[in-house]
Amino acid sequence: MFRSNTQTTYGSVSKVFHWLTALLILTAFPLGILANGAPFATGEEIVQKAWLFSLHKAVGVTIFFTALARILWAISQKKPAGLHSDNKLETFAAEAVHWRLYISMLMVPLSGWLHHAASVGFAPTLGALSSQALGADFFDATATRQPVSPPILRRLATHTPPQAP
Ligand code: HEM
Repeated sequence: MFRSNTQTTYGSVSKVFHWLTALLILTAFPLGILANGAPFATGEEIVQKAWLFSLHKAVGVTIFFTALARILWAISQKKPAGLHSDNKLETFAAEAVHWRLYISMLMVPLSGWLHHAASVGFAPTLGALSSQALGADFFDATATRQPVSPPILRRLATHTPPQAP
């Protein structure tokens, strides 16, 4: 198998990038939902919630850098011709969707990181995964937030923090 793309097929590096990003996104997504919904009534629950968030963020940051490398690789490669390359509109639509996905793979983790950076005492992205002090900080930050239920898709897409009602 070729490492680089050819006129007719994607090379092994593109395929590895494709499945790696898919796997990472499919891991980060449920982790985010799990961490967000995890209870924080007891000290143990707080530590566990903070740990889930740290894991979620670590996977999310990995997605950002993997996507960056994937995009740089894609730019340096020729692209296999589409199935109907004579159909200009279809080729343009396929290209546009592809680039939209690439941009989302950067913007979603970036917005998550912005939210993380703007939150005082929130679970760290890497390290200190199970410290009690971290749990206490996390509880302080979480306890002051307002309860809300904005449409989940908007928050998933943008990492928008909960708003006051
Ligand atoms: C492609 C990467 C990522 C995906 C798919 C993703 C997905 C999610 C999901 C599904 C949730 C739960 C939302 C909810 O239940 O309302 C969430 C929450 C969250 N994520 Fe991510 N995430 C990603 C990257 C990151 C990164 C890199 C960080 C920070 C370094 C981060 C920080 C957060 C935070 C702080 C929350 C809680 C938001 C809140 O309180 O409303 N995420 N994420």
